Amino acid sequence: MTEDSICIEVNRKQGELTIRLAKKIGLINKDYKIQNYQENLYIPLLRQPNESELELLNRFLSGFKISKGSFSPKKNNIKKISDLLEDKIPDHLLKILPQSMDIVGDIAIIDIPNDLKKYDTILGNAILEINKNVKTVLSKSSPVKGVYRLRSLEFISGENRTTTIHVEFGCKYHLDVAKAYFSPRLSQEHNRVSSLVNKRKEVIIDLFAGVGPFSILIAKNNPDVKIFAVDINPVAIEFLKKNIRLNRVDKTVIPLTEDARNLIDKQFKGSADRVIMNLPEKAKDFIDIACEMIKPNGGIIHYYEFIRYPDSIKQAQTRFCELVKDVGRKVNCFLSVKNIRETAPYQHQVAFDVKID
Ligand SMILES: C[S@@+](CC[C@H](N)C(=O)[O-])C[C@H]1O[C@@H](n2cnc3c(N)ncnc32)[C@H](O)[C@@H]1O
Repeated sequence: MTEDSICIEVNRKQGELTIRLAKKIGLINKDYKIQNYQENLYIPLLRQPNESELELLNRFLSGFKISKGSFSPKKNNIKKISDLLEDKIPDHLLKILPQSMDIVGDIAIIDIPNDLKKYDTILGNAILEINKNVKTVLSKSSPVKGVYRLRSLEFISGENRTTTIHVEFGCKYHLDVAKAYFSPRLSQEHNRVSSLVNKRKEVIIDLFAGVGPFSILIAKNNPDVKIFAVDINPVAIEFLKKNIRLNRVDKTVIPLTEDARNLIDKQFKGSADRVIMNLPEKAKDFIDIACEMIKPNGGIIHYYEFIRYPDSIKQAQTRFCELVKDVGRKVNCFLSVKNIRETAPYQHQVAFDVKID
């Protein structure tokens, strides 16, 4: 059995160095075996490397190619959790095993259906056995809620802790999954927004920054910009400060523990080229603030919202335009409108990139 994956194709002589580099920036897909063919090695990757990662690879390697290949999964991953649990859980419950989980650093977070709750430790141990990089299994015991956007988590098996270090696009994030928001499901979005920043000396305000996955990645790729990373949760900002040091972006990212609403009384009025508004539950209440922050000659807002059926993306766009108009600004155009993920039945998270005049 083989599966397709993006990979680095490199001459065997440079194999070891390539593996070391790719590991260091968190690119290697450890679920697949590395392949040998003629003079070349094919090293499976988790994703397409971004610009700065390619730059790093180019700096150390004399010739490599990003391509696609067929790879055999490693033995551990072929064994499905359900195989491991066959004799331990009744058959009808095997059918409702969780089909996915979030892996943040070395912590797996799963949603256990009620009927499976009394088998949670057995399930947790199976996850640890199959995913050698996972050291802790937690289960979700509430939805994401409250101002800090946290959920209650219950310890299931492994090491009893909620702190970890997560690697995303070569950046390291020290975080506590119980005390500060973080979702690995937003990684493509962090990278997408970061790849849109291309103007030197841009001023960016990340209004709901969390532990910094937008701000730090942007700063890594664009050391000349200035980013104010704001969050109301003091624990998130403590981790953000650590992450700024860990990723060596102290000259670019300025952390602020603040309610975004209070910022407009400070020096931020008319100062920003770009405002990131990743608080989908409430972002519409802050459109006025974001518009006031955008420079008088215009800028871009990256806006996130949850759309629940029968509400529609079109209606959300109309609402957005009206709220911008209410504060005396104008939507020049929607540069991008994207449905980025399903967050509940009949509910999606959408992302708008909007040019404001
Ligand atoms: C959905 S999380 C996004 C975090 C981060 N951008 C990410 O992608 O991981 C929203 C963040 O907004 C923060 N927040 C909520 N209300 C806020 C407010 N009024 N001012 C500043 N931050 C706020 C929460 O503490 C939370 O960390």
